[in-house]
Amino acid sequence: MQTFSSPLPVIRPALPKDKEDVAEFTKFIWGGHDYVGEVFPEWLKDPQGQLLVAEYAGKCIGCAKVSFLAPGQWWLEGFRVDPYFQGLKVGSRLDAAANEWFDAHGDGALRLMTSSKRVQVHHLSEARGFVRVGEVCAYAADALAESTDAFAPLRAEEADEAAEFCQRWSPNGYLNVGWKFAAPNAEAICAAMKDENLFFWWRGRGGIVSAWEDDEEGAPRLIVGMEACAGEDRIELLKDLRRLASARGAVVARWMNVIGESVLRDLDAAGYRKDWEDTAYLYERGKS
Ligand SMILES: CC(C)(COP(=O)(O)OP(=O)(O)OC[C@H]1O[C@@H](n2cnc3c(N)ncnc32)[C@H](O)[C@@H]1OP(=O)(O)O)[C@@H](O)C(=O)NCCC(=O)NCCS
Repeated sequence: MQTFSSPLPVIRPALPKDKEDVAEFTKFIWGGHDYVGEVFPEWLKDPQGQLLVAEYAGKCIGCAKVSFLAPGQWWLEGFRVDPYFQGLKVGSRLDAAANEWFDAHGDGALRLMTSSKRVQVHHLSEARGFVRVGEVCAYAADALAESTDAFAPLRAEEADEAAEFCQRWSPNGYLNVGWKFAAPNAEAICAAMKDENLFFWWRGRGGIVSAWEDDEEGAPRLIVGMEACAGEDRIELLKDLRRLASARGAVVARWMNVIGESVLRDLDAAGYRKDWEDTAYLYERGKS
C-alpha cells in the first residue's frame, strides 16, 4: 500500500497547473463517470468560494470545493482523492481545510450531499458537526404525450412571492438546483434562475416547480428539483410534470429531492419509479 515519505501532502488553493492531474486521476473514480475533471477548469475561475487541492511530490492528488450558492447558503462539492492515495487521510485534511475556510469566510449554512454508502464522508461530516437533514433519492416516469396548460413560467420579480409560497406549503423543503440543495428563499431562487434553472407556477398559484433539462442517460430528461403544492393535489402536479416533460421534448420526467413517506406515496400514485440504486444523505451545519 502507498504511504507518504516525508514531506506530507500540502493543502493549498488550486492553480491552473492542477487541471491535468485532476483530469487524469478522476478518470479512475466512479467507474470513469466522474464529472470533476471536466468542470475543474471552470471551478478555477469561480470568484467566490474556495477550490482547494492536495499536492504531493509536485502532483495534485486531491481536491475539494466550497461554493457560494446565495447569501448565507454554501455547498461543499468536488471532494476527491486520487485512488492511488486514498485511505491515507488526504481526504480528511482536505475536508478539514475546506471547513476551516468556510468558518473563516462563509456565513449561514454549509451543506453537502453524499451517497448513503460513503461511510468516510458520513464519519468526517458528523465529526465536524454536520447534521443529516434528509435522505435524497430520484424517481422517474415516462413523459406523457398529452397537452397541458397547467404551467406558467415564474418571472424573476415573483421570486419573493415564490419563496413565500414555499415557506407556507413546504416549510422544511429544499430547492435542488443542479445537484446542489438550498433553502428556497428569494435570493436562492433568483440565483438559480440566473443559473438557467426553470421555474413554473402550476395551475395559477396552486403549486410551484423548479427543474432543469439534461440528456445524461442518452435521452432528454426533465429533472424536477423541487415541487411545492398548495393543498392535497401533489399527485396531479406530479402527473402534469410528466406532460410538461413531453411538451419540452423530454422522454423522461425525473424527480430528485428529499424523500419521506407522503411524497413516496404520491410519486408512486403518479407513476414514478425509483431511479437510483442507493440514496444520498443531505448534510447541513451552521458556521462554527
Ligand atoms: C471520499 C474520499 C474523498 C476520502 O478521501 P481519503 O483520503 O480516501 O479518506 P481518508 O483516508 O482521509 O479518510 C477519511 C476519514 O474516513 C475515516 N474512515 C475510513 N474508513 C472508514 C469506515 N469504514 N467507516 C468510517 N470511517 C472511515 C478515516 O478514518 C478518516 O477519518 P479520520 O480522519 O477522522 O480518521 C476518497 O475516498 C474519494 O475520492 N472517493 C471517491 C470519490 C468520492 O466518493 N468522493 C466523495 C463525494 S461526497
